[in-house]
Amino acid sequence: MRIAVAADHGGFPLKQRVIDELRRMGVDVIDLGTHSADPVDYPDFAEAVGQAIITGEAERGIVICGSGVGASVAANKLPGVRAAVAHDTYSAHQGVEHDDMNVLALGARVIGPEVATELVRAFAAARFSGEERHARRLAKVQAIEARTMGTKEGSNV
Ligand code: RB5
Repeated sequence: MRIAVAADHGGFPLKQRVIDELRRMGVDVIDLGTHSADPVDYPDFAEAVGQAIITGEAERGIVICGSGVGASVAANKLPGVRAAVAHDTYSAHQGVEHDDMNVLALGARVIGPEVATELVRAFAAARFSGEERHARRLAKVQAIEARTMGTKEGSNV
């Protein structure tokens, strides 16, 4: 699996830890920045992760800002992206298993590195269950996207 990771300055302190943990799990990581603690704008980095998913360069993404909120809101503006803030391990894996969440958003000002590590592990190890009820609900989410964003119904992007 390949996961694109990006952070703004608020998320920067956590980014390397997240990348290291993914690599320890054998995940291929694309580091899309930011590369310093200088202030930047989170939508630029959320968009970079979303674009990596749209182009197929990455299957999933992790976006990190101060709270996780701005980055998730921005990432969800890209078609095919299903992003959520998950600061508990249940949501970090259940969001993938039931909702096919493909972007995990983290808030570096909310959680510490140890919790982040557990969340990353739960997210990266999880797989969409494909169970009928979840597939049906996912199709409905994609139908909303198709109606409002003009994407092809049933497709990921
Ligand atoms: C940056 O100060 C902060 O607003 C940003 O990282 C994020 O928390 C937005 O949701």
